[in-house]
Amino acid sequence: MNVMDSVDLRSDTVTWPTPAMRAAMASAEVGDDVWGDDPTVKRLERMAAERAGMEAALFVPSGTMGNLIAALVHCNRGDEIILGDKCHTYIWEAGGASTLGSIAMHPVPNLPDGTLPLSAIEAAIRPDNPHFPRTRAIFLENTQNSCGGVAIPPVYFAQVREMADRHGLAVHLDGARIFNAAVALGCPITEFTRYVDSVMFCLSKGLCAPVGSMLCGTEEFIYHARRWRKALGGGMRQVGVIAAAGIVALEEMVDRLAEDHRHARILAETLAGLPGVIIDLDTVQTNIVYFQLSESVPLEPQELVSRLESEYRVRIGWMKEREFRLVTHYWITPEKVEQAVRAFRAVLGQV
Ligand SMILES: Cc1ncc(COP(=O)(O)O)c(C=O)c1O
Repeated sequence: MNVMDSVDLRSDTVTWPTPAMRAAMASAEVGDDVWGDDPTVKRLERMAAERAGMEAALFVPSGTMGNLIAALVHCNRGDEIILGDKCHTYIWEAGGASTLGSIAMHPVPNLPDGTLPLSAIEAAIRPDNPHFPRTRAIFLENTQNSCGGVAIPPVYFAQVREMADRHGLAVHLDGARIFNAAVALGCPITEFTRYVDSVMFCLSKGLCAPVGSMLCGTEEFIYHARRWRKALGGGMRQVGVIAAAGIVALEEMVDRLAEDHRHARILAETLAGLPGVIIDLDTVQTNIVYFQLSESVPLEPQELVSRLESEYRVRIGWMKEREFRLVTHYWITPEKVEQAVRAFRAVLGQV
């Protein structure tokens, strides 16, 4: 299959760099970034800190490493993080905070709107007692991927901040898709970041950079984060070649995310009109669409995935059992949305 012809809706991590990114990468000024000599990385880090309204930022190879470093800086061995049972750090990051940092993870249930009930967070905070790990931090995620890419409004962050302050806890935001949340809610990302101590956001998802995420916080936080990045093997040398794409991502790719959100809505509404498709349209707020096939549909999940791909060149994510995910992004053009709509109607419309 020619990848350019396919409609790859499995994730926004599949995005290729844009032509402007490739040009910027080819001409990037570089130096040894572990020695602090790479001017392009420095520029990207200044831009990221400014966008987040924070003192400093660090370029890291992945969102997973950014979240892990945040845990390692906020916590010591034997400390505990409170986080959502559907959040990426808890489910999809190989338990890194526990395996590498001896940090316990205390999950509380995510509500369908992506938040953690304030009462559940408060109940999860440990009293000072030698039997318990020490609660040190609360991890939030926005948009909340597994809850359908929902955008959590700033007021919730203000409430969590207030509680964290009462208990002396740090708040970290996994903002892999924080720009999607900001675009969906029509506010700058500082409306969220002003309430947290650290934020990680990804350049390599809807913003299309090939690699990389930014971790932002105070100068002191980033000082310690830099040391942990080195310890984890994430110190990169002439990495301005990659950072150059990140600069284009921040300059050119944020405002257009609204188009991805419109496309996700078209796909969701199409699916909602097909027999046997279970979908909650209220959760379709950004670029992610989850849906399920009811048992009445005489198609095995694998069959749906393979028929869409082999007959219509449409690739979708199979999450579990009869649940699937679509993620729109820059390379899902209006023509490709049409192609996907036709494919869903053909495969599911007549079963
Ligand atoms: C919400 C969220 N956080 C963190 C990550 C991790 O990012 P990376 O794949 O760059 O490690 C992802 C990746 O999909 C994600 O969806």
